[in-house]
Amino acid sequence: MKKGFSTYWIDTFGCQMNVNDSERSAGLLRHAGLVPASSRNQSDLVLIHTCAVREKAEKKLFSLLGRLRLSKTNHPGMNIIVGGCVAQLHGRSLLDRAPQIDAVIGTHCIHRIPDVLKRLGGETGEKIVDVSRYDRDLFSMPPSLIAHTSTVRAYVTVMEGCSHVCSYCVVPRTRGPERCRPYNEIVAEVEQLIRRGFQEVMFLGQMVNAYRWGKKDLADLLDHVAAIPKLRRLRFTSNHPTHITTKLAEVMRDHANICPQIHLPVQSGSDRILKSMRRGYTSKDYIEKVALLRRIVPDIAVTSDIIVGYPGETEDDFSETMRLLNEVRFDGLFSFLYSSRPGTLAQTFNDDVPLTTKRRRLNELNGWQQACQRARHREFIGTQESVLVDQVNSKGQLCGRTKHLRIVHFHGTESFIGKTVSVEIVDAGANSLTGRWVEGVAPH
Ligand code: 5AD
Ligand code: SF4
Repeated sequence: MKKGFSTYWIDTFGCQMNVNDSERSAGLLRHAGLVPASSRNQSDLVLIHTCAVREKAEKKLFSLLGRLRLSKTNHPGMNIIVGGCVAQLHGRSLLDRAPQIDAVIGTHCIHRIPDVLKRLGGETGEKIVDVSRYDRDLFSMPPSLIAHTSTVRAYVTVMEGCSHVCSYCVVPRTRGPERCRPYNEIVAEVEQLIRRGFQEVMFLGQMVNAYRWGKKDLADLLDHVAAIPKLRRLRFTSNHPTHITTKLAEVMRDHANICPQIHLPVQSGSDRILKSMRRGYTSKDYIEKVALLRRIVPDIAVTSDIIVGYPGETEDDFSETMRLLNEVRFDGLFSFLYSSRPGTLAQTFNDDVPLTTKRRRLNELNGWQQACQRARHREFIGTQESVLVDQVNSKGQLCGRTKHLRIVHFHGTESFIGKTVSVEIVDAGANSLTGRWVEGVAPH
């Protein structure tokens, strides 16, 4: 390793896929002899895994790069690498916009970080741009090299990219078309993670329930992996309604360690908008998929994503969305203001809903959803929940998740981290539950 090039810092924006990419990058950097820096400003290498899904996320990168310009002046040995979706989307043009960047690495090139390191910081001050696509080595990094952020939960990428091409979404451009990872490779990675003591595995894919490998689908993969001894919890995200099947629901029902929880983005309740979005289902289809899941897995927690202010969204369309929310009663919701993204079909539409209207709709939706969640959470007061403890929160309390992915805070010792304990729920807010540890063995 070059002299003065020994520490790294990683900033991660966006989804779990980016978190997983950061974990893989950190593993490669450690393997190359670098150690984590104590602060970003003092770091020799700053790697930023960026998100391009909404304009706001992209703006975050440029505000960070602005701050880093000064840090670089104070610490001239610093090298800045921009990775992730913004890197893939804008490539070399990022260097013109932000000359403080030393390298741009696309979403398909993470495994080449060691080569990039060798070339960086040389005499010539060479800038590196590597945004080549569809690399066959995409998944081939040895799992033992991945530097997991949690000691409890491990992400496992089972597929990448998306071939669905919803009108508003930049992801097919940044992550490429759908590619599935070999079935046996996934099973081997999970076996290794369990041997290393991980309690929970979360399968990741832009459209994870479209996973296919030969004749096997996601339900087969879950069925196989859930039977591996000592795996306490198994989850998968994110899902598309079209690929929700009875078989998938039955596999969830048949394994106690497949968590009864699903993230199932709906985006809108208006059929007119869903059609324009090219989602491939109507609100009735969506409601039927949720009904199917609830029939087979009665206590399943369902969360979703909604976009408000999509081009042409009228008050009537928005009312349809509110009606769907009222009917489904989601356990959690991520809602976003529509923002036009480069190269998408919707970019050619008139982004005609005024920002004030978008914000009003978002507030109305969030207000309703928060009230709904608070009421639902209050039903848990007095019950006991099995909580897998993740970490100590900023107030010194323990923080963990129920099987349904609900957040629970309670007092206990750090030795609880990584254990599943029983907690009696004593209070509840819209976003989390508060409890009291109950001695005894938690079921799962
Ligand atoms: N504007 C707003 N939200 C978007 N999402 C994707 N693209 C856009 C966009 N252009 C949201 C969708 C998706 C989530 C990850 O981000 O709700 O499910
Ligand atoms: Fe984007 Fe649609 Fe693919 Fe999801 S399914 S990643 S919203 S194109």
